[in-house]
Amino acid sequence: MEDRIIDAEEKSEDVFEKNIRPQSIDEYIGQTELKENLRVFIKAALIREEPLDHVLLYGPPGLGKTTMAHIIANELGSNLRCASGPSIEKTGDLAAILSTLEPGDVLFIDEIHRIPKYIEEVLYPAMEDFELQLVVGSEGKSRSIKIDLPPFTLVGATTRAGDISSPLRDRFGIISKLEYYKDEELERIINRTSKVLDMEIENKAAKELSKRCRKTPRIANRLFKRVRDFALVDGSSYITYDLALISLDRLKVDQFGLDGVDIDYLKSLITKFNGGPVGIETIATSIGEEVSTIEDVVEPFLLQEGFIKRTPRGRVACKKAYEHLGFDYNK
Ligand SMILES: Nc1ncnc2c1ncn2[C@@H]1O[C@H](COP(=O)(O)OP(=O)(O)O)[C@@H](O)[C@H]1O
Ligand SMILES: [Mg+2]
Repeated sequence: MEDRIIDAEEKSEDVFEKNIRPQSIDEYIGQTELKENLRVFIKAALIREEPLDHVLLYGPPGLGKTTMAHIIANELGSNLRCASGPSIEKTGDLAAILSTLEPGDVLFIDEIHRIPKYIEEVLYPAMEDFELQLVVGSEGKSRSIKIDLPPFTLVGATTRAGDISSPLRDRFGIISKLEYYKDEELERIINRTSKVLDMEIENKAAKELSKRCRKTPRIANRLFKRVRDFALVDGSSYITYDLALISLDRLKVDQFGLDGVDIDYLKSLITKFNGGPVGIETIATSIGEEVSTIEDVVEPFLLQEGFIKRTPRGRVACKKAYEHLGFDYNK
């Protein structure tokens, strides 16, 4: 699939995010319930001089999981150690990370659902009793050893909560789902980014970006950055509403945040398959995309915004899709 500007996954161009990432709970916009809970738990942990309970954050990409992991460490005054599920390929990889932890460290494991089950088991005693239990030696004369670990907090992040085994999930004291952001919160995020990057944006333009970013801060920031480029080239010292409209048009991001791939999908569903129901394989073939791409990156947003429905007999286009593409729903 082509590179999509509205793809919520982290890309290399997003490294500029480092400066625009909020550093404290106060700077973190939205996710009020999570923030208020964390505030209390962090304060309590600091008073008791004990580590914060392990935290599991789940939800779609780009909603602020990694950012929150950094903030938790900041608020605790602790060091953050980062690892990711796919990079933990052997028991030894995880043991190496755990055995170098310092007291009070926050260990962030991104994509934690991708740790193989047999390695995951090393985490259970580590999380529960701060103990590293390893089996050493070869078969026949193997023995298990126990090493004490310093108290630490594990922060796990995943986009697929369903893929986390229940023994692992049960060992997190704080489990929170990150929600899609409200337009008004996205507007505040865009205005914050505008200040950090020192490029002013008209209110109306910020509003427009907030409506087209798929309720996702990462996409909001990416759109901001691209629109800023248009402004720069245009010789404008700030982002006007007109400039925003022109650039979003050039970037092919429509008023709902849909791009060419989304539109192809909907058009195909409506014009070739009479609005469905039709199987996902059939749609995938008709627009030349992989089934997995459609399932993981195209459909979730269309479903959540009510453009399509999933039925036992296949995908169905909803009224909103017909209206958006200018087709008559009743025909
Ligand atoms: N609540 C928020 N307030 C302000 N900016 C945010 C917020 N959540 C995310 N962001 C911005 O979006 C970007 C992506 O967030 P990130 O934490 O990397 O998402 P995830 O780890 O869930 O994919 C961050 O760099 C940050 O700039
Ligand atoms: Mg992340």
